[in-house]
Amino acid sequence: MNLYKKDFPIFNNNPKLVYLDNGATSQKPQLVIDAISSYYENSCANVHRGVHHLSDVSTTIFETSKKTVASFFGAKNSELIFTRNATEALNGLAYGWAMNNLKEGDIILVSLLEHHANIVPWQEVGKQIGTHLNYISLTNEGLLDINDLEEKIIKHGNKIKLISLAHVSNTLGTIAPINKVISLIKKHKINCKVSLDGAQSAPHMKINFAKLGVDFYAFSGHKMLGPMGIGGLLVKETLLQNNEMKPWLFGGGMIESVYKEKTIFNEDLSERFIPGTPDVASVAGLATACEYLNKIEMEKVEQDDKALVKYALDQLSTINEVEIIGPKSTQDRLGSVAFIYKGVHAHDVAQVLDGENVAVRSGHHCTMPLHTENKWVATVRASFSIYNSKDDIDKLVNAIKKIKTIFK
Ligand code: ALA
Repeated sequence: MNLYKKDFPIFNNNPKLVYLDNGATSQKPQLVIDAISSYYENSCANVHRGVHHLSDVSTTIFETSKKTVASFFGAKNSELIFTRNATEALNGLAYGWAMNNLKEGDIILVSLLEHHANIVPWQEVGKQIGTHLNYISLTNEGLLDINDLEEKIIKHGNKIKLISLAHVSNTLGTIAPINKVISLIKKHKINCKVSLDGAQSAPHMKINFAKLGVDFYAFSGHKMLGPMGIGGLLVKETLLQNNEMKPWLFGGGMIESVYKEKTIFNEDLSERFIPGTPDVASVAGLATACEYLNKIEMEKVEQDDKALVKYALDQLSTINEVEIIGPKSTQDRLGSVAFIYKGVHAHDVAQVLDGENVAVRSGHHCTMPLHTENKWVATVRASFSIYNSKDDIDKLVNAIKKIKTIFK
């Protein structure tokens, strides 16, 4: 019996639901839902603006919640910039950092497995200032080809200004070998920033921004049991202090004083990135999700996830028609297992599974370059969260076995 499932009302309301689409969004525990409604029922007022009591209460909720979220990620309070999600965080990196610090001919490196949110903003930056977007190859099983990265570093040297990688792939589950990447940067003494798209790592593993050694880390709250519409970009404090990372949205809230011709911005590093009214209720909901995960402990979340991935790999590989994609070893992967059912389109597979109350994602999972490169028309992905159990995998496998009887 899974210990956490009872905390998520969606399963009480849909007792048959086998939810394996957590890579797209996770379900929310009652505590998170309550934090949001309690904010609106008891404490709603604008922050940092009013002198009245309720504004003070709301400001305290916002500030304490921000501290909780920053500390969950092992970051300083000033290093956390709230955004709507990881996509917006990566756009913030593009417009707040890249556009201000890169120039024509500079290179941004990503890998072939990236989610569109870590590709499209760099294409847009390229259109505007002439930077190039290069792709690090993958090995046959979908690991980052570290030799290819080293060759690119040797070839392009200091032209490479940013390496931006998915910390965990949303399609293959691959964990980026971030220590190796940083070692190569140090070995070849290039002056390059590193960014991680943590949308799929934050829900599954302990993140310590200080220890990771990267400059930027983007995450989505809604994939880690928090509400939709809140996420963040962690930025190394030094890049904020030396004004390398600049605000990319402007308005009230972030200012010291505004004159007809010019504006003096707030000196406070955190305040400078809060133009307009923040989504206090979602920030409170996200902080509650962080507290809930802290209680379980992220080390245990990761351990349980690895066990589930291993069980899914073992069980799915007993079905002849199923071809699993991504790394073979659970050492190298986390969060999900994607596969092709030979001879049946992924959407048809997902529809049969849905008929058995098993929710999975099918299609290209916003990783079209990866699918095109591998000539996969579409794949099926089962992705996990803390409320999933081996029983859910058994139901998935039994549902997959029905496909044969339908598509003869
Ligand atoms: N990035 C999300 C997914 O992988 C939407 O499903």
